[in-house]
Amino acid sequence: MPLFDPFPVLHTPRLHLRAPCLADAPDFHRHDTDLQVRRYLSRPPPSSLAVTEAKVAGMVDNTDAVAWVLADATTGAFLGYACLWHWDQLNARAELGYVLDPARWGQGLVPEALTPILQFGFERMSLHAIEAWVHPDNHASIRVLAKLGFIKESHFREHELNLNTHSWDDVLVYTLLRP
Ligand SMILES: CC(C)(COP(=O)(O)OP(=O)(O)OC[C@H]1O[C@@H](n2cnc3c(N)ncnc32)[C@H](O)[C@@H]1OP(=O)(O)O)[C@@H](O)C(=O)NCCC(=O)NCCS
Repeated sequence: MPLFDPFPVLHTPRLHLRAPCLADAPDFHRHDTDLQVRRYLSRPPPSSLAVTEAKVAGMVDNTDAVAWVLADATTGAFLGYACLWHWDQLNARAELGYVLDPARWGQGLVPEALTPILQFGFERMSLHAIEAWVHPDNHASIRVLAKLGFIKESHFREHELNLNTHSWDDVLVYTLLRP
């Protein structure tokens, strides 16, 4: 059962933020197996398209997360995705996630996409806080969060086992409180 029915389609000047569907699985898979995209992620890439298809099916039918495909507003091309997940309804908190096609990095597209997503989280999901977990070396992601007003709240040392490097990664937690 999807969390929101109808799905909350959002628009920005350059993007159409729509519901994921199973036909998007090859695009998700291309992003999720891209070495540049995965550089600061601690989990291995999906081992097959079938694994990604299962992930996309889980996104469509999820009770604690809502995910948007970031599509080019003009061409409809799949550019990436963003989500509010780990929705803790008791404490009115959720976690933000985002991924963009490396060919479109540095154009301000993710801050543009996240602006209505954050507004949706605070207004429609009644969130009190939205947080993001980031690798300390992921400067592009930290810049995105700074542009949106997130504040660094924690630096957890050796908090996440990196299954790619078999070492322990530090994790920074950035938070935006309800305006
Ligand atoms: C993090 C990410 C979403 C940023 O999206 P974006 O739309 O490029 O964001 P912006 O255009 O606002 O750029 C943010 C910063 O990225 C850096 N950047 C710009 N062009 C870049 C490029 N070609 N390559 C790497 N970093 C670049 C700059 O520091 C920029 O800051 P600035 O605008 O002050 O110069 C994108 O880099 C990405 O998908 N990364 C891989 C997935 C990921 O790490 N997700 C976050 C997990 S916490």
